[in-house]
Amino acid sequence: MLNLILFGPPGSGKGTQASRLVEKYNLKHLSTGDLLRGEVAAQTELGIEAKKKMDAGDLVPDEVVIGMISNALDNNAASVEGFIFDGFPRTTAQAKALDELLSKKGLQIDKLLSLHVSEDEIVGRLLKRAKDQGRLDDTEEVIRNRMKVYRESTSIVADYYADQYKLADIQGEGEMDKITENLCSQIDLIASS
Ligand code: AP5
Ligand code: MG
Repeated sequence: MLNLILFGPPGSGKGTQASRLVEKYNLKHLSTGDLLRGEVAAQTELGIEAKKKMDAGDLVPDEVVIGMISNALDNNAASVEGFIFDGFPRTTAQAKALDELLSKKGLQIDKLLSLHVSEDEIVGRLLKRAKDQGRLDDTEEVIRNRMKVYRESTSIVADYYADQYKLADIQGEGEMDKITENLCSQIDLIASS
């Protein structure tokens, strides 16, 4: 099994790169943002609660996203060669919970791949996406809050994995193909170690 975290600020390309990597390595893509947007679209109780936080660019409570990931792990473990977590974990509490969930299944995180993109580039990308796809949290005010939440609550999650020698930093700006290539080089290092 190969279990990876694709990490980085809003708009750093987590979703874009994850869809490329899942095909190459036969992994299951688990994006808490996508799972939450599914709940919002289905108007479940969880979705109705989560929407308020998402529209403001604030984090949904840890127990909600941990519960979603726990269910997804139970439902998919047999069918794939591993998982790519995208947008999760976003707090140290989520990182610890993920370690526990995986260790119950005899699994562990192999690497956290951290995409680095400047704030100006992020705002540009997400305002462009707002026009193309109309994601409701892609207004300049909400984007700025999502970046603030990333800086204040999420960026430290990288340190948690650095302490375990599992952090790989990746330049997230430039050609998408080149970024994919650099991610694959890091992943292939795990496979060969
Ligand atoms: P989430 O859906 O995870 O959003 P995010 O982290 O803000 O990131 P995005 O999905 O906007 O960006 P991305 O990094 O996937 O980049 P993408 O590939 O799309 O979370 C949304 C909300 O849900 C949160 O605010 C929170 O409320 C809640 N939530 C989710 N998870 C949670 C958790 N664990 N705990 C608590 N709350 C949680 O790329 C962005 C754009 O850039 C695209 O248009 C793409 O085409 C373009 N692009 C990509 N790469 C390049 C490139 N190299 N050059 C130019 N353009 C590029
Ligand atoms: Mg995404």
